[in-house]
Formats: sequence, structure tokens, C-alpha cells
Amino acid sequence: MGLIARYRERLPFAPGDPVVTLEEGSTPLVPAPALSERVGADVWLKFEGANPTGSFKDRGMTCAVSDAVRQGAEAVLCASTGNTAASLAAYAARAGLRGAVIVPEGKIATGKLAQALMHGARVIALRGNFDVALRLVRDLCDRQPIALVNSVNPFRIEGQKTSAFELLEDLGGDLDALCIPVGNAGNVTAYWKGFQERGAAPRLFGFQAEGAAPLVLGHPVDKPETVASAIRIGNPARWEEAMAAMTTSRGAVRAVSDAEILDAYDFLARREGIFCEPASAASVAGLMKYGPDGCARIACVLTGNGLKDPQTALDRAGGVIPCAAERGALEAAVLR
Ligand code: F0G
Repeated sequence: MGLIARYRERLPFAPGDPVVTLEEGSTPLVPAPALSERVGADVWLKFEGANPTGSFKDRGMTCAVSDAVRQGAEAVLCASTGNTAASLAAYAARAGLRGAVIVPEGKIATGKLAQALMHGARVIALRGNFDVALRLVRDLCDRQPIALVNSVNPFRIEGQKTSAFELLEDLGGDLDALCIPVGNAGNVTAYWKGFQERGAAPRLFGFQAEGAAPLVLGHPVDKPETVASAIRIGNPARWEEAMAAMTTSRGAVRAVSDAEILDAYDFLARREGIFCEPASAASVAGLMKYGPDGCARIACVLTGNGLKDPQTALDRAGGVIPCAAERGALEAAVLR
């Protein structure tokens, strides 16, 4: 069941409204025994990489694109570090809408680019970073009858809040803290809305990459840089709301280095059997770095699938072992 069908009474859709869905949501909440032991808390992983296009963006996109169809839009547009682009492209294809995505040239992971292109979106590589792209698409959508489906669109937040509902349902309401990567700051805002609507208030710990940490520094970053390309953002659109959510919940926003992100990325793959993309590993890197802060049960949001970014994985992991097609050589290769 898609998330609009599952949570319709909590979403701004009436029975009979058009619904564009790929059966997103209802993602696995996986216990993390190795991580739990390492940090000394009961840690769970919300694997959003199991959504249809491989990231949490599908939760927001089913709502934003369904609303665009309801409004009679013919085209949908976004600026993106990759995942929003892939998700927009898929939902636009499903809805029969034209889709266009603006991405920072050379700075999005290969899998995301392949998805956006395969789904037939117009992919525009901007000579500028995400922040510049978002400014330009907002301006364009003010002047043209095109629906903007970045997380400045309230329907994105509505859809993404449903992950908080699922967490509370799966854990029987027993959750002390949430660790989450923060880029444009829509997702942390959405979780807080979801928790509040259910009368819950876990502490929200947001993590930014050190080279792209405007919320930690308290000012925009002109030239954000990080290996976690999904969160390479210097001026988040939902700045105030995200800060309010983290402060009100008695949480915090903190920075993790690229090395710490990649350590957590390795740890998840090798010890928990879960392959997420680097940006997602920022949540776990933060938990490993700063500790559970007195929280007994913690959920880390793994926002995107590791398959999105094969290059970072291949650069990181050991190489393959060449082998002659012959019994002795194979035995040596396997057993060595
Ligand atoms: N993790 C992943 C894998 C993402 O793709 C993003 C954002 C985030 C975390 C941060 O979420 O922006 O709501 O704070 N990706 C956007 C995109 C910006 O264009 O795909 P946020």
C-alpha cells in the first residue's frame, strides 16, 4: 500500500483525489546489533533506501506530484543533488507529466543520474552548486506555470512526515532520539512534524558534513564540499524550522568529517550488512562520534541506498581478485 492510502487521514488528500504512487513508504526498521554494542544503546536503522527509487524522497514526491496533477500542472521541476531528481523523474513518468531537474554539473552520483535520464526527465547540468540551482528554479517557477517539487513545497513535508509515524508504530512509541543527516533541512523538519502530530518528542540530532555545515556554523557556506554529495548544501531552505525542531526537542545539530562519514559507511556495510549512500551514513557517523547522550533507544535514518553511488563504494572497497579459469588457481584465490 502506498503512503497516501496508508495515512490518508493524516494527509491533505480527499478520497477521489488523483494519487500518483509507486507504493512507497513502509520501509524496514532494522535492529543494529553491532552498532548498538559499539555505542551502548538500542539502535535501529530506518532503511529509506528501500523506497521505490532508493531514497526517502519518494515519500514527499508521491504527495507533491499527486498535488501537481490535482492542480492541473503539466510539468514539474526541481533543483537537486541527485535523489530528488531521480524521484521526480520516476513520479513524473508515472503521472505522464513533463519533468525537468537541475543538478550541479559533475556533482551527482552516477546511479541518480542514470535514474533521472532513464525515466525521461530533462536533466540540466548547472555550472553552479545546489544553492544556486534552487534559487534559480524558485525564480523560474514564480514566473512559469510549473510545479516546484523541492522540499520548499509543503506537500513534500507532508509525505516525508509519515516516516515518523512508521517509526512510532514499529517501536510502540518507545523512541528517545533520532539521528538524521541534514542537507536542505526538509527531512528533519518533516520528522518533527510527524512526531508532533502523534504527540511524541524524541530528541532530534541532525548531522551535517564538516565542509557543508551552515547550521552548525550559524551562517551560509559559499562553497560547500563533502564526499557526501547528497548533502553538499551551503544554505538550507528550511533553516529556521529545522533549527527550531532540533532545539525544541532538546537535540542538536552537529558536524561530522568526511573520514567519519566514510568510516560509518564501511561499518554499516561490513558489520550490519546494510549498504547506504555516504550522506545517509552521516547519521550513524554522528552517533558514533558524539555517543547516545543518555538516550536508551535511538533510530538512525538511512536516507538513501548505497547502489546510488557505486563510484564512492568502488573507490573505497578492496579490489577484485583476478583468476585464471583453472581449478588450482581458483582454489588458491578462494582460500588464500
Ligand atoms: N540524505 C540523502 C541521501 C539526500 O539525498 C538528502 C537530500 C539528504 C540526506 C538531506 O535531506 O535535504 O531534507 O535535509 N537530498 C536533496 C536532493 C537535497 O536534491 O536529492 P534534507
